[in-house]
Amino acid sequence: MLAYSYTQYGSSDVIEQVTLPQPTPKPNEVLIRIYATTVSAGDWRARSLTMPKGLGLMGRLVFGITGPRKPILGTEFSGVIEAIGSEVTSYQTGDAVIGFPGAAFGAHAEFITMPEDGKLTPKPDNISFEHAAAIPFGATTAYDFLVNKAKLQQGETVLINGASGSVGSACVQIAKHLGAHVTGVCSGGNAEMVRGLGANHVLDYRKQDVVETGVQYDMVVDTVGTLPWAQAKHAIRDGGKMVLIAGITSDMFVGGLKARLAGKKMVGGVASEHRDIMEAVVKLAAQGVLQPVIDRSYAFEDMKAAHVHVDTGRKKGNVVVSFSEQQAVSNIA
Ligand SMILES: NC(=O)c1ccc[n+]([C@@H]2O[C@H](COP(=O)([O-])OP(=O)(O)OC[C@H]3O[C@@H](n4cnc5c(N)ncnc54)[C@H](OP(=O)(O)O)[C@@H]3O)[C@@H](O)[C@H]2O)c1
Repeated sequence: MLAYSYTQYGSSDVIEQVTLPQPTPKPNEVLIRIYATTVSAGDWRARSLTMPKGLGLMGRLVFGITGPRKPILGTEFSGVIEAIGSEVTSYQTGDAVIGFPGAAFGAHAEFITMPEDGKLTPKPDNISFEHAAAIPFGATTAYDFLVNKAKLQQGETVLINGASGSVGSACVQIAKHLGAHVTGVCSGGNAEMVRGLGANHVLDYRKQDVVETGVQYDMVVDTVGTLPWAQAKHAIRDGGKMVLIAGITSDMFVGGLKARLAGKKMVGGVASEHRDIMEAVVKLAAQGVLQPVIDRSYAFEDMKAAHVHVDTGRKKGNVVVSFSEQQAVSNIA
C-alpha cells in the first residue's frame, strides 16, 4: 500500500511517499481502506516537533527521543471496511466508517487496521467521506473541553480565540448548540465564516486587543496559545473560567493556581480521545448541528502541499487529503 512516512523531525520535506505491505487485521480488528484523511495540528506538531517554549524535551518523550516513533502520521480518517478479523461481530466488509487513531496516528496511508471496539464508528449516510474525515480531531477536542471539562452552560458568554481553526470552528458550533452567547476571535478575512458558524460577535485580533474591550465573559477559550492568563484574566468575570486548549508553558503548569488565587478557574490538559466523545460529535454532525469546515482538499499525491499549507498556521478549519474512489480502486488493483 501507499503511505507517507517520516524518519526525522522537520519541515514538510521530511515526509516521503513509501510503499509498505498491506496490514493484516488481527482476529479482533478490521482492515479499512482509507478514502479521506486530514493534515491536522497534531500532525504538524509531531512532524515538526513544534512545542510551547521549554517543552521540547517533553515533545521528544511523546513523539520519539531520537526520531519519530510513529513513522506514519494522520490522526483521523473516513473509509470503508475492506476485511474483518475472525472474531469481529460489529462490522462487515463494505461498511463505511469514521476513525480516530489520534495520538496513535497512521491514517496517512491507503489502509489501516483498528480494533473493532477502538475509536471507530459507522459513517452516517448524510455525511460525505471528505467531511467525515474532518470531524474527529477538532470536534472531539472542542466537545471534551467545553462539555466535559468546562461544563459550558446555556446562556453563558464565551470568548473563543482562534475561532476559525479546526478546534475553534468546532468550539463555536458546539458552544452555540449548548445555548451559549459566542464571541469569536479571528482575522478579518475569516469573520464572515465564523459568523456563519453561529458566532454572535466576531473580533479581529489584528485590529483590537480582544481582552481590552471592557467586556467580561463567563468563559475564555484559547485554541491558539496567544492569550496568556496575564491578559485573559481581565476578560473573565469573577468565578469565570479560562479554558486552555493551547497555551504558554507557564500557564500550563501554574495557570490553575494563578486563576484560583484570582477567584477564577482554569481548565486545561489534554483532550480525551475516548470513543464516546467521537460518537457524540459524529451524532451532532449527522443531525446537522456540527459541520466540519473544510479549507482545502488535496489529492493523496499532494500530501506534501497539504502539510505546507497547514504549516502556515492559518488554515480555516480542516485540510483534507483524499483518495478519489476511482484512484483508490486503481491503487488496489
Ligand atoms: N489540549 C489538547 O488536548 C489539544 C487537542 C487538539 C489541539 N490542540 C492544540 O490546539 C491548537 C489549535 O489546533 P487547531 O487544529 O485548531 O489549529 P489550526 O486549525 O491550525 O488553527 C489555525 C487557525 O488559527 C488562527 N490563528 C492564528 N493566529 C491567531 C491569533 N494570533 N489569534 C487568533 N487566531 C489565530 C488562524 O486564524 P486566522 O487565519 O484568522 O488568523 C487559523 O484559522 C494547536 O496548537 C493544537 O496543538 C490541543
